[in-house]
Amino acid sequence: MCDAVHDAAHFAVDVRALDCDFLLCSAYKFYGPQIGILCSRPGLLDTLDTDRLRTQESEAPYRIETGTLNHPALMGLTATIEYLAQWSQGKHAGRG
Ligand SMILES: Cc1ncc(COP(=O)(O)O)c(C=O)c1O
Repeated sequence: MCDAVHDAAHFAVDVRALDCDFLLCSAYKFYGPQIGILCSRPGLLDTLDTDRLRTQESEAPYRIETGTLNHPALMGLTATIEYLAQWSQGKHAGRG
């Protein structure tokens, strides 16, 4: 588990190079809305025995959500990433 809350605001985080199972960060740290971000190793979320609302989808990533997704924040997050990606330079330019 890698807490990238501080790094994500200052560096392009390469989750493959870190080789971690989970990486967390918070969008408001890089001018985005108040929403947390969880990046999981592919397939790993489906193996976790988590509490889940019966009405929620059984597959990841929905199985760890407790209700309706925060669509306005997700739209804001997408816009933030699009905005920042245009300023990226060097080896990790773009959204990757
Ligand atoms: C290193 C670190 N991890 C986690 C958090 C928690 O992030 P959030 O405010 O989104 O709960 C913070 C908050 O500043 C932090 O500094």
